[in-house]
Amino acid sequence: MIYKDDQPIGTSFINKDILSLRQFDSSSILKVFKRTATFKKKTAVSLLSTLRGKVIALIFYEPSSRTFGSFSAASKRLGANTIEYINPQAYSSVSKGETLADTVRTVSNYADAIVIRHPTKGAAAEAAFFSPVPVFNAGDGIGEHPTQALLDMFTIYEKFGRLHNLKGLMTGDLLNGRTVHSLLQGLSYFKGSTIYLLSPKSLRLEPEFVAKLKSKIKLVEITKDSEIPADCDFWYWTRVQKERFSDLKEYERTKHAFIVTEKLMREKAKKNMILMHPLPRVGEIETAIDSDPRAVYLTDEMKNGMYVRMALLSMILK
Ligand code: NCD
Repeated sequence: MIYKDDQPIGTSFINKDILSLRQFDSSSILKVFKRTATFKKKTAVSLLSTLRGKVIALIFYEPSSRTFGSFSAASKRLGANTIEYINPQAYSSVSKGETLADTVRTVSNYADAIVIRHPTKGAAAEAAFFSPVPVFNAGDGIGEHPTQALLDMFTIYEKFGRLHNLKGLMTGDLLNGRTVHSLLQGLSYFKGSTIYLLSPKSLRLEPEFVAKLKSKIKLVEITKDSEIPADCDFWYWTRVQKERFSDLKEYERTKHAFIVTEKLMREKAKKNMILMHPLPRVGEIETAIDSDPRAVYLTDEMKNGMYVRMALLSMILK
């Protein structure tokens, strides 16, 4: 069974599931950003009453540092409590054979919202089908990672004041990268941008996905870093997704096909650009770049993740 994951947000976020960037349009995205910017300016104490009395469940079937940590922190900073199921395959009744549907129905008795990460594409939509409380997709296999895309877009928006007429570069595992799928979908709602796509041949975006987006956003596939235009506003680097490979030799062959080096930054990155990465990085950005003011992956991008998730939680649960 294929579960629906594209119910439009429309004019109200209240009680909606957040499963895919396909639910959004430019105006719903900008609404999230307005709330995010407001929250960033508020004091910690003044935010605490926002979701007082609520309980958010985090169910993570796949490893996570940032998404888990920032959803947990976002809930607590708004005054909510969390129930955290980390690795439920080992530590919950999932190990006894409980289905996703039953786990979700169980947890929805305790919590006002469920944040779920799962290795299977479509699992968050399945969870939402069975859950009477809103579900947030925190990454479903190679599918989507909508809250990551929103925080990436917010980071671009905060820097350039717009999401249209941008020139961007997306590099790495474009085939298996769920953040890439969500981000491209989101950027396609804003006119006039061109995105250069750099990846090993075997890890290119799926042609059907490119075909769907092509009428909305200009996508240019390139194969060598020498082809990167020197005037991009942002670079979005990603790791090659080892856990999605059946052939580890192929992973080894492609994992470091493209690396951000100081030389590459000197030759191809303009002064006023930003270098983003959803993290974790596993060698594809040299650590020497971390102190470059254009590198935002360990700073603004990550912090924005918490604030964007605070905005979404408050808009859906209030
Ligand atoms: C990403 C993910 O899990 O999809 N990480 C994240 O949530 N920030 C990217 C990745 O794992 O490569």
